[in-house]
Amino acid sequence: MRRLKHNHPVKLILVVGLVFLQLFSKGYTTDNLSAISIIPKPVSVIPANGSFTLTNKTVIFVQAQNNEAKSVGEYFASKLRPSTGFELAVKTTTSKPSSGNIYLRIKSGDTKLGSEGYELTIKSNLIILSAQEPAGLFNGVQTIRQLFPARVESSEVQAGLWKIPAGVIRDTPEFGYRGAMLDVARHFFQVEDVKRYIDLIATYKMNILHLHLSDDQGWRIEIKKWPNLTSIGGSKQVGGGNGGFFTQDQYSDIVKYAADRYMTIIPEIDMPGHINAAMASYPELNCNNKATELYTGTEVGFSSFCTSKEITYDFISDVLGEISAITPGPYIHIGGDESHVTKLEDYIPFVNRVQQIVSKLGKKVIGWDEIALSTLIPNSAVQFWAKSENAVKGVAQSAKVIMSPAANAYLDMKYDSTTTLGLFWAGYVEADKAYKWDPSTLVPGIGKENILGIEAPVWTETLTNMHDLEYMVFPRILGIADLAWRSPSSGNWDEYKTRLAKQGDRLKFMKVNYYPSKLIPW
Ligand code: ACM
Repeated sequence: MRRLKHNHPVKLILVVGLVFLQLFSKGYTTDNLSAISIIPKPVSVIPANGSFTLTNKTVIFVQAQNNEAKSVGEYFASKLRPSTGFELAVKTTTSKPSSGNIYLRIKSGDTKLGSEGYELTIKSNLIILSAQEPAGLFNGVQTIRQLFPARVESSEVQAGLWKIPAGVIRDTPEFGYRGAMLDVARHFFQVEDVKRYIDLIATYKMNILHLHLSDDQGWRIEIKKWPNLTSIGGSKQVGGGNGGFFTQDQYSDIVKYAADRYMTIIPEIDMPGHINAAMASYPELNCNNKATELYTGTEVGFSSFCTSKEITYDFISDVLGEISAITPGPYIHIGGDESHVTKLEDYIPFVNRVQQIVSKLGKKVIGWDEIALSTLIPNSAVQFWAKSENAVKGVAQSAKVIMSPAANAYLDMKYDSTTTLGLFWAGYVEADKAYKWDPSTLVPGIGKENILGIEAPVWTETLTNMHDLEYMVFPRILGIADLAWRSPSSGNWDEYKTRLAKQGDRLKFMKVNYYPSKLIPW
């Protein structure tokens, strides 16, 4: 009895202390701009005294005569309304707004910001977000989201103050290509899933989504001249279940959804290998004129186009023609990986010819690093995933390189021996492995000047739904986003992991099923 009584006030103090600790650690309030976790890390953060508070009267003003900027304002409001419950009207203006408001403006002449950079000035009476281009405003909006308490990401109204500490952030990306790849061929993912993926990675300023639209197990994009591709080739997926495909309208809807978030879609048709779904759909594509069986296993490297047949090139022209007509972005990805049953003397002229087909369509070629074995045409880019000597061959031909080293950037690799999902062939990729690499020094002979950007692929042999996909992608993709945006000298693992820890609540409010890595002090 005595002990209990005695403990009471101590307990009370402990509880109060814990509550305070919780409030601070969850970012409920902080009065220093530079103490807030932002991923990717901004180039420059200069804190000032004071803070801005968002209220029910705040209006998001957008500089008049810029419809794109207005759309960014609408997007911003749509991100803040559910959790704040505020009206947050979006209005145009020709002059600086009055106190209590947010102002998005296009300011040309600040050339250091480039096309994607922004300057964010937070004063106690006004937030001003400036950029040379709307894409910069969009990136700045992502930063403002992260300056509010984590619960701003909730889809339900949350109580409390919406306060941001004062200061100035100036920010531009290191790489103009900051990408993710989603394999919708091994397991199909619906339009709504792809949109969620786009939304989540746009939050971290990624601007490329590469869609792996065909593989041995499935063809996932409607081609009007070759309808069996989807009716037969799209019918199954790994494990033998029903597959699926995007109609061209659905694909266009994805492209628009991405473009509204300043993200470019890169479509991939993988060839001459990884092509069984097409070979099963049309007998005439096969050297022996016999359709193959549909394949629902996970082996690789057993299929090939019949490179000596002319119909192969007619087919490719039709397919890439239809796809490029609905792809506003500059790139078509032609795959080119793991063509183990295509002889090298057939592979090289094949890739050379397909590059010409893409070029005639007015698009640039991307291919996995093996395409560097061929003669690359100007502007073709090589995606390094496995063999550094291939990527170096690409550089020797003046090609730019997209850095996707499997041992660091493949988000379908298991985290450790206890991970039940994912694959292991490139080794375990814990959160630190995905972060502790420098794209500009990883491969001798490939420097910053040779690199187009970074991309983190996720292959879906073992991933059947968004819950599983998110578990493998998050949190590693935040590290990839940080690497792609910040300059290599401005961060390190110890600094980053505390920044990542503070994103945990944000991911929870976004209902992301992230892997709670033990390496992170969540
Ligand atoms: C690949 O992982 N086969 C590009």
